[in-house]
Amino acid sequence: MEKKSKIYIAGHLGMVGSAIKRKLELEGYTNLIFKTRKELDLFDQKAVSDFFVKERPEFVFCAAARVGGILANDTYSADFIYENITVQSNIINSSYRNNVKKLLFLGSSCIYPKECPQPIKEEYLLNGLLEKTNEGYAVAKIAGIKMCELYRKQYGCDFISLIPTNLFGMNDNYDLQNCHVLPALIARCYHAKISKAEEVHCWGTGKPLREFLYVDDLADACLFLMLNYSGLGPVNVGTGSDVTISDLANIIAKVVGFSGVFKWNTLFPDGTKRKCLDISKIQKLGWNPKTALVDGIKRTFIDFLETQK
Ligand SMILES: NC(=O)c1ccc[n+]([C@@H]2O[C@H](COP(=O)([O-])OP(=O)(O)OC[C@H]3O[C@@H](n4cnc5c(N)ncnc54)[C@H](OP(=O)(O)O)[C@@H]3O)[C@@H](O)[C@H]2O)c1
Repeated sequence: MEKKSKIYIAGHLGMVGSAIKRKLELEGYTNLIFKTRKELDLFDQKAVSDFFVKERPEFVFCAAARVGGILANDTYSADFIYENITVQSNIINSSYRNNVKKLLFLGSSCIYPKECPQPIKEEYLLNGLLEKTNEGYAVAKIAGIKMCELYRKQYGCDFISLIPTNLFGMNDNYDLQNCHVLPALIARCYHAKISKAEEVHCWGTGKPLREFLYVDDLADACLFLMLNYSGLGPVNVGTGSDVTISDLANIIAKVVGFSGVFKWNTLFPDGTKRKCLDISKIQKLGWNPKTALVDGIKRTFIDFLETQK
């Protein structure tokens, strides 16, 4: 991929797509193309096909998807499977038909089986049953990864996929009905601080261990893999280390300036005890995460404050 290569970022307004755009611009890539949903609805197979025929992108980052937390995934599971399969299939197949030189597809760590040995290696994919609450999303994402592998096998396409852990950072979603745990804790601590509440109520015991990667580090990994990886299987991208949700809440409270206490509601389920990716594959390729959790949270909180203006 050259600095002048024509690069299409699908989903450039999302948290991941916007981080990839920032990274590519910072590194001097000058020929980036992107479209809003209004300009190009990725559900529309003909519109996507026409776009690829007209624009002829050489490289594609596929970061457009329907994404959400447990509640949204569980409530709208049909929408999650349909929308993700449709969007990714339109992009992957159009990339093949229009001779895209390389495509990068994003999976997610929640596509691994529910009961997985830890840390999770890439080869555990499809080795067991999925978590029921996000089955629609997971099946769609697994289909995307398999499409990349099978288009490589049948047509020789250089399509790669990666499996990021939980992400956070600029342009995150803070809608409490639909968001992930880290942005939810930022929003709840902030609102508690503003309203001078002394308690923040959280789901579960706070004991499960989870891994979090700052989204700019993921963008760095996306560029790294685009330049350095052309293998068949997906590549995990994470930090390789985890933190209890309770410790995460305490870090966030400190950054936000919330001095009250957390009340853990054990009537709500904890989910899997531990979820951490084995990142030895990407480390062997030469990539490591750069941002410490607390630094990423500080930067994210600054961005969150912008959303409150
Ligand atoms: N967030 C995480 O923690 C996480 C973790 C692991 C993997 N990932 C993966 O990273 C990728 C991006 O996630 P994200 O967090 O950046 O999601 P996001 O912030 O919701 O962004 C997704 C983007 O895709 C666009 N999009 C969806 N359907 C579209 C359509 N039909 N036409 C045009 N645009 C469409 C959305 O456009 P609108 O703005 O118009 O809705 C949005 O800009 C996903 O593949 C996800 O699985 C995310």
